[in-house]
Amino acid sequence: MRQYIIAGNWKMNKTVSESVQLAKDIVEAVKDVKKTEVVIAPTYLAAAKVADVVKGTNVKLAIQDIHWKDQGAYTGKVSIDMVKEIGAEYVIIGHSEQRQYFHETEETVNLKVKKTLEAGLKPIICIGETLEQRNGGILKEILGLQIKGAFKDVSAEDAAKCVLAYEPVWAIGTGVTATDEQAQDTQAYARSVVKEIYGEAVAEGMRIQYGGSMKGANAPGLLAQKDIDGGLIGGAGLKADTFKAIIDAAE
Ligand code: G3P
Repeated sequence: MRQYIIAGNWKMNKTVSESVQLAKDIVEAVKDVKKTEVVIAPTYLAAAKVADVVKGTNVKLAIQDIHWKDQGAYTGKVSIDMVKEIGAEYVIIGHSEQRQYFHETEETVNLKVKKTLEAGLKPIICIGETLEQRNGGILKEILGLQIKGAFKDVSAEDAAKCVLAYEPVWAIGTGVTATDEQAQDTQAYARSVVKEIYGEAVAEGMRIQYGGSMKGANAPGLLAQKDIDGGLIGGAGLKADTFKAIIDAAE
């Protein structure tokens, strides 16, 4: 039985003080949550303070991205050691916004996945197609490339520690959600690619989140699908009550 994982990706939202407040609100809202793994990903600037808020609670910390280099002259970037020191457990890698606006490639995703695993943290690897790709009939090809690219030279043992997040680009922040069936079919396909690489046990154990306009109203339908093991939440993760509504659907 795979444990649901609901993660709030705060993207470039909330100042440091707002982030601390939101983290406190979420900690309070989910204090009785037992079955679902709850994760929040604030901005870099707020991460250390949010880490203090979630310490010792059932809320875990994720970071929105890292650089694959250990240290040095990489203006604007943070390294895995910095992330590890503040107690983050997860790193979001390959988000479509990184792919679209910041030159993320299959190769950089793979380097970041390996760096995160080496440090003992867990990657949340984002995959997903654009509307043009889906309509153009190359959905499977794109997902196959993304999954195989992310896991290149990653052992089965390490792959088993990763989470996949299927986020159709056309559903992110648009209010348009994939139907339960579209999400299920695509995520079943993603799992079959993992199976092709690593075999049944790793594929069946791997958690695959859905992301893209998930909210309290559509979460029950999505989370009831066999291959949907949680959510990566943008907009609805920016308020404790809307985030909690999704967690309730998982519980
Ligand atoms: O990473 C979460 C995400 O991209 C989905 O965003 O705002 O559509 O829930 P949103």
